[in-house]
Amino acid sequence: MNTNRIRILSACIVAALAVGAEAAGERWFGESLADRGRSVYQAHCAECHREDGAGDANWQQRGPDGAYPAPPLDGTGHTWHHDLSALQRQIREGGEKLGGVMPAFSGQLGDAEIAAVLAYVQSLWPDDIYAAWTKSYPDDAATGIPVADDAQGAGGNPVTARLRSLLSPGTRIGEPEDTPVAGIYAVRAGSRYLYVDESGRYLFTGELMDLEARESLTDKRMGSIRLEALAGFAQEDMVVYPADGEEKAVLRVFTDTTCPFCRRLHQEVPALQAAGVTVRYLPFPRSGPDGPGAEEMRSVWCETDRAAAMTEAKSGDGYIVGDTGCENAGAVAEGYRLGVEVGVTGTPAIILPDGRMIAGYQPYRNLLRTLGIN
Ligand code: HEC
Repeated sequence: MNTNRIRILSACIVAALAVGAEAAGERWFGESLADRGRSVYQAHCAECHREDGAGDANWQQRGPDGAYPAPPLDGTGHTWHHDLSALQRQIREGGEKLGGVMPAFSGQLGDAEIAAVLAYVQSLWPDDIYAAWTKSYPDDAATGIPVADDAQGAGGNPVTARLRSLLSPGTRIGEPEDTPVAGIYAVRAGSRYLYVDESGRYLFTGELMDLEARESLTDKRMGSIRLEALAGFAQEDMVVYPADGEEKAVLRVFTDTTCPFCRRLHQEVPALQAAGVTVRYLPFPRSGPDGPGAEEMRSVWCETDRAAAMTEAKSGDGYIVGDTGCENAGAVAEGYRLGVEVGVTGTPAIILPDGRMIAGYQPYRNLLRTLGIN
């Protein structure tokens, strides 16, 4: 375990140095390719070649079955005596043809994954070994294995591929993104983020908090997804209270006319407007698109002066439901669908300009402070 850490660490340092200094020697692969290769390695190779690539201690002696155990790949064996095409062949076809026992991976790993795993294997080699390999195969060292950008992407990434096979079909799975937690990646699945380990087998759902910065890193990441999703909801389908004078910020608020804290926030909308904040309401019927709140909001959305109707409905003075069958009424079901998609579970849900979400009521002064408006 210790050596494993040290090796990976030194590989990272080498890669980091290679960016700025020629001295450490350029390698044909970048850090990100080697990083991807690490997950392929851990999922498919580590069981035989060991976590740290050191191979079996007795790799030079035939076992009781007459076969050689897995050799080291970390530069201490003779892997570096092969050119890239021989190494690719060994992984694609395995060792059977040559009387070995390593399984063929052509059915499981694509070219991009094989390139990535070789990059990882070579990242384990110390500089002098890599330099010796470069001397034997200068062309390989110069060109490496060409990897198309998109081949490194969703299809080629083992974590993504695995998640794809394990999660429900049709879920859009993004590229694994680094998190500050070692070995844990954030992966976008549909409109939410999940956290996975590097094998793509173990998964967390939930929220990643930075206690020092006092913020939800999950919510921060969700921001761009929310903005993207919200862009699809037409502005004329919102009920808008424009800023007085110069607009300094826009808050989008998922609201329900029957929810007490939505009403409370609504009483402070004039103060927000006065401070230069535009409030745009989207409908989010708490009890679902068929509940009583939905009925009331359909009626509000059908009125000619929706802003006045919204205020009336939220005043609690007995708003009388009118027409609910107009064309605009469809916005209520659409708002509900969108809310669920971006993670709204209750009202009010306040979307900040950067896409972060405040779940629940906050006094307008706090909102202004969050927006940086005094
Ligand atoms: C079931 C055990 C096993 C697995 C899994 C395995 N290997 Fe091997 N590997 C071996 C053995 C044993 C050899 C020695 C040749 C032979 O027997 O085929 C070998 C040889 C090699 C060699 C040639 C090394 C040299 O110095 O000539 C490379 C490169 C290699 N493996 C890479 C990989 C990679 C990359 C993976 C994962 C994608 C992998 N192996 C998975 C057992 C395994």
